[in-house]
Amino acid sequence: MHGSFNENDISHIVEADKAHVWHHLTQHKAFETGDPRIILEGKGMRVWDQNGKEYIDAVSGGVWTVNVGYGRESIAKAVYDQLMKLCYFSQGAGSVPGSLFSEKLISKMPGMSRVYYTNSGSEANEKAFKLIRQIAHKRYGGKKHKILYRDRDYHGGTLAAMSAGGQDERVMQYGPLAPGFVRVPHCLEYRAADQGWEDLSGEAYGQRAADAIEEVILREGPDTVGGLCLEPITAGGGVIVPPPGYWERVQEICTKYEILLHIDEVVCGIGRTGTWFGYQHYGIKPDFVTMAKGVASGYAAIACCVTTERVFEMFKDDPSDKLNYFRDISTFGGCTAGPAAALENMRIIEDENLLDNCTAMGDRMMGNLQALAEKHKAIGDVRGKGLFLGIELVEDRSTKEPVAEKLIQQTVAECGTRGVIIGAANRSIPGRNNFLCFSPALIATADDIDRITDTVDQALTATFG
Ligand SMILES: Cc1ncc(COP(=O)(O)O)c(C=O)c1O
Repeated sequence: MHGSFNENDISHIVEADKAHVWHHLTQHKAFETGDPRIILEGKGMRVWDQNGKEYIDAVSGGVWTVNVGYGRESIAKAVYDQLMKLCYFSQGAGSVPGSLFSEKLISKMPGMSRVYYTNSGSEANEKAFKLIRQIAHKRYGGKKHKILYRDRDYHGGTLAAMSAGGQDERVMQYGPLAPGFVRVPHCLEYRAADQGWEDLSGEAYGQRAADAIEEVILREGPDTVGGLCLEPITAGGGVIVPPPGYWERVQEICTKYEILLHIDEVVCGIGRTGTWFGYQHYGIKPDFVTMAKGVASGYAAIACCVTTERVFEMFKDDPSDKLNYFRDISTFGGCTAGPAAALENMRIIEDENLLDNCTAMGDRMMGNLQALAEKHKAIGDVRGKGLFLGIELVEDRSTKEPVAEKLIQQTVAECGTRGVIIGAANRSIPGRNNFLCFSPALIATADDIDRITDTVDQALTATFG
């Protein structure tokens, strides 16, 4: 008996899963000899699997999502109450939670003003791409339509989002992709040698990486480039915190060439790095901000594409033109459970001071990981902000040769055996799938953080000696 499940329930669930479910990012061959992990229940920072094993979840639902932790009755109740009043109506009309959540969200985003509801991060990004394309048609005869994206960033699994995908292993075998997306170099100083910029560090490297964006714009022709889409801190591409000076220069470049700046906050949004949004650490002024995972902490599906009044106004001028407005719909953008859950999620973050806790616990975790780097030679680099951290593992610190992927998987498994779920690079950057990532819920206590990093310590010793 595990919680509310008996042994028969559980074996039925496992068999049904093995017979019919196609898991995400998973090679199913492994399940011919073993069972998939099935998570039965969660409470706070902890989850339980089908064998009754308890884990600390150091990745908030696997993919940086359950920011306020599991088992929040007040969110469940807000969703229940809303569903009993009105479960759904197309976003052609308004709804009570849609209206109230947009007001709350915008109050945390100075300079932004309009919320477009959708249901996944990929889809929110596609809305921004479509808006940038439509602006190109409305204002520039379709010419200024290219969208720049950065090496190692990820924006989603749909075809256009993959066309803006800087993680080559995610994209391989899915071509041909959509035209009009152009790559700019990454800004990971630790891997500057891959770019021939190993002599640069700190601000000089940050300037160089941003100047490289300008070079791409000049090569493509500034009159052809309409948008630049960037993660504020790259997530699945290696937890890359941009170097000093980078963002200031990026903002200058966007202003100079009239390029719309689209910040993908699908991971960083709603508290993950200790501010409501990742871009707010850098004082930049985006034209679009997209968000998904942490918006309702996974209690309901919701994603948003948020923009400025300036952009919104462009779609109101000349009502005699039948094609002038944003002709887009997302059926499940009209589900009311999402904004109802999101509103309560934000209340919890505010009332429980979770942004401050995120900063304090993030600093603690960073300190713990840096201490581990003193002990384990395999740790080549420690990166992150708030409760969004990663470590890059190398064979040799001087050559920075990445460790074999199987050693990354082994370290993850060693943590799992010891009751901690951590994350790792998964078919992301060719030859560079050598990092582990951590994103505990924003409710983490000092004990939780120490338990996670103690376990990583033991797992590294078990794997690398
Ligand atoms: C930065 C970023 N953008 C977009 C997405 C896509 O979001 P979704 O899986 O909700 O479509 C992800 C998903 O991991 C992501 O990490």
